[in-house]
Amino acid sequence: MLLAACSGRQSALDPAGEDAETLALMFTVMVTAAAILWLCLNGLFFYVTRVSPRRMSRKLANGLVIGGGILMPLVLIGALLAWGLSILPDHDQPGDGLVIRVQGEQWWWRVAYETPEGDVISANEIRMPVGERVSFVLDSHRVIHSFWIPSLGGKMDMFPGRQTNLSLRADEAGIYRGQCAEFCGASHAWMAFEVEAMEPDAFDAWLAAEAAPAGPPDGGAEAIGRQIFAREGCGGCHEIRGTEFQGQVGPDLTHVGSRHSLGAGRLGARLEDFSTWIAHTDDLKPGVEMPPFDHLPQEELTALAAYLKGLQ
Ligand code: CUA
Repeated sequence: MLLAACSGRQSALDPAGEDAETLALMFTVMVTAAAILWLCLNGLFFYVTRVSPRRMSRKLANGLVIGGGILMPLVLIGALLAWGLSILPDHDQPGDGLVIRVQGEQWWWRVAYETPEGDVISANEIRMPVGERVSFVLDSHRVIHSFWIPSLGGKMDMFPGRQTNLSLRADEAGIYRGQCAEFCGASHAWMAFEVEAMEPDAFDAWLAAEAAPAGPPDGGAEAIGRQIFAREGCGGCHEIRGTEFQGQVGPDLTHVGSRHSLGAGRLGARLEDFSTWIAHTDDLKPGVEMPPFDHLPQEELTALAAYLKGLQ
């Protein structure tokens, strides 16, 4: 069970970036040092109580208490502390240019990529170029959340009305999982996100596509889905750039069909996941603000799903 947590896309022990590597090294050294100390201490304890209870002189015993109980821990723990502080990643260090602002919501993530042409708005997913240090600027809408991508680095709290910074670099392309790491209400555990570290060229192409407005519905089912989206008032909360839907309450859906997950990491992103999410939001994510649209017949849910999945 312990070893099962050592790898995978959400493990601090399976680093895929510079900062996470430093933290994994620190963890390994600290655990190893603690294990050695624990073994020495218990070995000594066993020796003086069981193997040779009477052989120790008063002077040696006093020396052990002072040396082993005060001096050695001071020196060793002091050295480990100094070493740990010296290699600790600087969460504020300057990036290579890309700034991504992330705001914690109940229970999802509002994401904005800063570009010279203005912000590119997205949600519940982070994409970043491999080999480049990215500056994350974090805050929160109402309560404290914590932004954590274990494969890439340490966590950073997100506060309402106060900005915090986190600097991360991914060194291996791949898809990782981020998770809110601060209890923030009923669905805290369901507040996750996918992180895709891409080759820089692929990232640039993706960002250009993400900046573009949504394309028109492709085919009959998608067109019907768009009508249902309008009829049910979905645009009151969700924005789809390039359409009349301009809501700012919920996640931007302009390119929701190209994301890896739905409901902030709650479901996958297959067609049926869209209809499942729309009909069962409150079951899937207790306390979520989006009401369940379980009154819609399945064919309407499927058409809505087709429209949203088509927003590539
Ligand atoms: Cu957001 Cu826990």
